[in-house]
Amino acid sequence: MSATPSLYIGLMSGTSLDGVDGVLADFAGGGIRSIAAAFTPFPAELRSELMALQAASHNELEREALAANGLALCYAECVRQLMPSAGVPVTAVAVHGQTIRHRPELGFTRQTNNPALLAELTGIDVIADFRSRDIAAGGQGAPLVPAFHEAAFGKPDSARVVVNIGGIGNISVLHGDGRVTGFDTGPGNVLMDLWIGRHLGKPYDEDGAWAAGGRVHEPLLEALLDEAYFRQPAPKSTGRDLFHDQWLNAKLARFGDVAPQDVMATLTRLTAVTIAESIRGESAGVEAVYACGGGAYNATLLQEIGNALGGVQVESTEALGVAPNRVEALAFAWLGYRFSQREPGNLPAVTGARGARILGALYPA
Ligand SMILES: Nc1ncnc2c1ncn2[C@@H]1O[C@H](COP(=O)(O)OP(=O)(O)O)[C@@H](O)[C@H]1O
Ligand SMILES: [Mg+2]
Repeated sequence: MSATPSLYIGLMSGTSLDGVDGVLADFAGGGIRSIAAAFTPFPAELRSELMALQAASHNELEREALAANGLALCYAECVRQLMPSAGVPVTAVAVHGQTIRHRPELGFTRQTNNPALLAELTGIDVIADFRSRDIAAGGQGAPLVPAFHEAAFGKPDSARVVVNIGGIGNISVLHGDGRVTGFDTGPGNVLMDLWIGRHLGKPYDEDGAWAAGGRVHEPLLEALLDEAYFRQPAPKSTGRDLFHDQWLNAKLARFGDVAPQDVMATLTRLTAVTIAESIRGESAGVEAVYACGGGAYNATLLQEIGNALGGVQVESTEALGVAPNRVEALAFAWLGYRFSQREPGNLPAVTGARGARILGALYPA
């Protein structure tokens, strides 16, 4: 007989600023089962306001609060789409919020959100603010997904890597002996999206097709790799605070004559080699690499990560039974479940926190 359902909804909106990924999941009996998924794109105005709020600007307190209200409406819409698949009451909605600043070195991170409004709109308990407690305990507050990656994808005695390629990239190295390490590798899609948006007006390079037709410009690649973050030891985490359009513009300034498509190929290569180097630095004998996040749909990128790892095959997490675009929202649903169990969600070996901590705050229905 199967255990009584234990349903959670996870809502993730990451640095790509594309919209909200939602997953309805069942954790009955300690299992991990994703039941349904939904995606709610951000309205264009909200997206551009969230983009603007990534940097200091006029009247940002009020504007942030209003953006948080707009976000709550998107989150509620995503929940609404998932509810018909539930059947029985959902225990809680676990919502990441939208990162607008991530400054662990200054002791804070800010995920804009209005969990009180979301509780009001859905009538379901809401668990929010997963990162602050880890930072309060001296950690980076990121990445938080490695504990989930181990629970969902870990396999005893085999070294597996899960690489999440959202706006920012992050790796979880599941060593096979219970040890898990990981950190943010740097840009995932963020620079690639910016570049294709600027030149072709598209949100992203579908399948990596545009990059595939370009040629990597080696001196530009070298300039892009000349960034202290890539050499910094873990624990480390990053975001749009560092990898923004001015960062890219400054790097490109010396290379005005490189064809846009070649720049695209070079940015794709940058993401690939920084991920591959990060993996290599963590584990000599990686047997399998599984990609998730939207970047897992970029065939050129996965191919290049594999090449940079000397021919290791890079598959998507689909091979492990979870569609790549579901993984991160499922991870936050699981972190909500952990909160409800009063179990820690962070891995001190990953974030650098002083210890394991229960992550999140509850806004009762
Ligand atoms: N078919 C695709 N081909 C190439 N890239 C894709 C594709 N689908 C999604 N992406 C990339 O994935 C990004 C969204 O990934 P996501 O995991 O949602 O990131 P985040 O968590 O930062 O929001 C898009 O901005 C785009 O760069
Ligand atoms: Mg996204």
